[in-house]
Amino acid sequence: MKTTTRCFSRRDLERVQAQPLVRKVEFYHELPSTNDRALECAAAGGGDTPLLVLAELQTAGRGRGESRWWSARGALTFSLVVDTTSLSIPAERLPPISLATALGVCDALGTLHPNFDFQLKWPNDVYLGRRKIAGVLVERQTLCPDRLVVGVGININNSFFSAPDALRSVATSLHEVSGQRYDLTDVLLAVLGRVFVRHEMLAAPRASLAEQLQPYCLLRGRKVVATTAGRRVAGRCRGVDDFGSLVIEDDVGRVVRLLSGTVVQIR
Ligand code: BTN
Repeated sequence: MKTTTRCFSRRDLERVQAQPLVRKVEFYHELPSTNDRALECAAAGGGDTPLLVLAELQTAGRGRGESRWWSARGALTFSLVVDTTSLSIPAERLPPISLATALGVCDALGTLHPNFDFQLKWPNDVYLGRRKIAGVLVERQTLCPDRLVVGVGININNSFFSAPDALRSVATSLHEVSGQRYDLTDVLLAVLGRVFVRHEMLAAPRASLAEQLQPYCLLRGRKVVATTAGRRVAGRCRGVDDFGSLVIEDDVGRVVRLLSGTVVQIR
């Protein structure tokens, strides 16, 4: 008989249910994608928010654009359905919600390992050393525009041993770096707490996202090449501004701000 190691025990799920940050929790042993399920819930409108959709294992996790999010058991994969009106985040501050979420992930992982240098790679990745350890995927439910789905994948206890070749050299997990095993429920609760604090900061008129991001910005000061809407922009990265745009200064001193795009080269 095949036995499956469970990452969340009944007691763990009781702890998740008992936390005060989200109003409803859906838990799945296996799901194609927590973002897909969260988008379905958001489309139905109504319902309690924030809603947490948590899966022990995703079989068709998605990343930005066409990319996939591969994960094995032991990774933390969840999505939040948040109501932007109750968060009181002004419209111009919504695009950086993925950065604010990634910042919350850095904060939470930093409490576990204060000496590890978790960094943010614009627009939605968390890196440890030269490898990606977490990603954030924010999607809007067009049928219910006030609802945003904030998906988070963090490599915690999982191993990349059986991962596709292309991933093994670019991704890592906390376990692979530290050799330790983590209580996924503790990590989840810490991440939720920190992510909501960062979301609240987005709503605060005087809190500068650029200042908050600066210490974590992997690209700041580096020569980068980014692509956006078919355009290629090369130059030195000057950080991220308060609206979540990547600021690049080209060779003739012209400053370009990218609200979306992909960094394809870092030197
Ligand atoms: C990226 O790296 O481009 C973003 C990855 C986001 C992955 C998470 S895992 C939980 C949630 N469900 C998904 O299908 N994707 C996000």
